Amino acid sequence: MYIPLLRLIRLCVCGTCLFVVMVAKAQPMKKPVDTIGQKVTALLQQMTLEEKIGQMNQYNGFWQVTGPAPTEANAKLKYEHLKKGWVGSVLNVSGVENVRKLQEIVVKESRLHIPLLFGLDVIHGHKTLTPIPLGEAASWDLGAIEASARAAAEEAAAVGINWTFAPMVDITRDARWGRVMEGAGEDTYLGSKIGMARVKGFQGNRLTDDDAIIATAKHFAGYGFAEAGRDYNTVDVGTSTLYNVILPPFQAVVDAGVRTVMNSFNILNGIPSTGNKFLQRDILKGKWGFKGFVISDWGSGSEMMAHGFAKDLQHAAELSLKAGSDMDMESYAYIGHLKQLVQAGKVPVSLIDDAVKRILRVKFELGLFDNPYKYCHPEKEKTMLYHPKHIAGALDIAKKSIVLLKNEGQLLPLSAKTKQLAVIGAFANDKNSPLGSWRIGSDDNSAVSFLEGLQRMQVPYTYEKGVNVVIGKTAFGEEVSINETDTSGMAAAVQLAAKSPVVVMVLGEHGFQTGEGRSRTKIDLPGLQQQLLEAVYAVNKNIVLVLMNGRPLAIPWAAEHLPAIVEAWQLGTETGNAIAQVLFGKYNPSGKLPMTFPRSVGQVPIYYNYFNTGRPGPKTEVFWTHYIDESRKPLYPFGFGLSYTQFAYSDIKVNATNPHKIEVKITVANTGKLAGEEVAQLYIHQGIGSVVRPVKELKGFKKLMLQPNEKQELTFLLTDAELGFYDNEGRFKVEKGMFDVMVGTNSDEGISSFFEIK
Ligand code: NOJ
Repeated sequence: MYIPLLRLIRLCVCGTCLFVVMVAKAQPMKKPVDTIGQKVTALLQQMTLEEKIGQMNQYNGFWQVTGPAPTEANAKLKYEHLKKGWVGSVLNVSGVENVRKLQEIVVKESRLHIPLLFGLDVIHGHKTLTPIPLGEAASWDLGAIEASARAAAEEAAAVGINWTFAPMVDITRDARWGRVMEGAGEDTYLGSKIGMARVKGFQGNRLTDDDAIIATAKHFAGYGFAEAGRDYNTVDVGTSTLYNVILPPFQAVVDAGVRTVMNSFNILNGIPSTGNKFLQRDILKGKWGFKGFVISDWGSGSEMMAHGFAKDLQHAAELSLKAGSDMDMESYAYIGHLKQLVQAGKVPVSLIDDAVKRILRVKFELGLFDNPYKYCHPEKEKTMLYHPKHIAGALDIAKKSIVLLKNEGQLLPLSAKTKQLAVIGAFANDKNSPLGSWRIGSDDNSAVSFLEGLQRMQVPYTYEKGVNVVIGKTAFGEEVSINETDTSGMAAAVQLAAKSPVVVMVLGEHGFQTGEGRSRTKIDLPGLQQQLLEAVYAVNKNIVLVLMNGRPLAIPWAAEHLPAIVEAWQLGTETGNAIAQVLFGKYNPSGKLPMTFPRSVGQVPIYYNYFNTGRPGPKTEVFWTHYIDESRKPLYPFGFGLSYTQFAYSDIKVNATNPHKIEVKITVANTGKLAGEEVAQLYIHQGIGSVVRPVKELKGFKKLMLQPNEKQELTFLLTDAELGFYDNEGRFKVEKGMFDVMVGTNSDEGISSFFEIK
């Protein structure tokens, strides 16, 4: 094929930018042969309607695969469907033997031998667990985040898995929502970069490699904006938020090649996502040209009945298909009803064909038709899990995820010579909670506890639990019971604190207090922990508070009174080693908050890139935007995090000669006594916009290591992709006018300049 003399090229990565340039040279271009497309079409032509529908059907794991054939009705049905080729994918089946057995059923017994996809929630590691995604996001280290996803893929692939339901790229501003632990926090720019790094890590270099697993961008769309932070709740957002905050991370990962997108449980502006044609057909597959397939969330098709959108399961199937949901996870809607819908003339076969083509394409891309057992290597299953390189990687990113929130009087780092170190708090001795709530493939109690971390560093200590946080057993699907009454261990802890020079208190939330279905209305220290903290403080003010939690916490008392606070999230397998190394200065903390910490739950949703309002204040009278009983400022702002050394910013220079490539230079110096890493953050603010712009927006960051007295000049580039925004019709535009630019150590502190786009 010969392409025309002048070719239009889009300059902007977003793909909808207004700027285009003409490239003058004619290029003879051969259209690459879509060999996969040809294979897909050829296979599709051989398929019966039932077989096509079968590819769109995903079942949960249903029987002890290595045992006898199932007899229980539902499991038996699934088994029969497998043999007929009426199942395209299963989830929650893993282990080489199990996967091979199921794959053999479809490959050997079904008519067309189409291999299965094996999906699993490999969210932050498989056996070896890295920090919860919100923790990893605090590292702002895209290389380490990609490496973490790579390690997860290697381990998952070694147990037969070829598809993970990650990354979650939902932007979220509400710490009450339990799933904030699974995302990258509140910022669209940071969240997009992290989403891309994770997709790259999971999917690897080539999908045909036997350790590449396909990734899923979820939950499309708006799930992170559940009203009142209550999981699954209504999402009602305006176009400005939808186009500028919620959708860009999805578009970024689609551009980065993510092969599947999961829709979501919520309604978005009145329409359930699974039945939302605007989201799935118009935007995702239309405007963005997504070539992979859409998987529903678990039962989200059938849940459209409870939403009051579908009158029965058949109607749910019709609405889902028409809206562009390609594969049905555990709703039984497609397998049960699509055939009748086609026969009744209610849905055209062309829609089914399109969905099946997308699914088959991914299977071909993975090379499953060449080798359906490419993930079934027993020797890998023996060697890859908890592989030493994965453990080393988990430790690396766990250290990088820790955020130093306060260090008054340089109490930290502790000296290895510290005698009589007192350690208090149930989580210090917990090997389970630090694994978080998504640890489906891992082993209970497999984290290195903080106490074990101290032991490995040969730090002597005395330990008292103080109070239990949870009562009884904890499990993925169950509510945790919190200890609100038993104070029996408190006196011993106070006694220990009274005779020790320094006390490390490890407090926070249990891993099963965050995650799906774990919304909280109080985001403080659960149970009796605040009481314990204040009792210890009454006898010893030298407290280092180590927080383990899966969401921003409102801890104003601790922030005001304690000298040192370390945010350690749920850091996964290497938790204790990472915290011990940070506390004793073997690693200088470098993490920065990916989500604002509120002073009080009443401030939520609180985020740094808000709009100014018409009455920003402050004023002496009441008529300005504020609270009468609390500051409107956060406890710790987005991007905040200290180091054991200090950094100074100077010499900001802006060159705006080329409006499509604005250059911002800044010098960062290490003015302290220790080597350390800093994350320099660049924020812009467009003064006047045809749609009001936020007070600031992150548009660049660089993580750099500086020796004491070393300084470095950094250069940031602002292109149309960073300068523009979406208007209320979803059109991307860059507007002329004045912009402020700030570069600094967090979203609240930095040095500023300005420029004009003429
Ligand atoms: C429901 C969750 O919302 C989703 O994120 C997850 O991937 C699926 N269940 C499968 O477990």
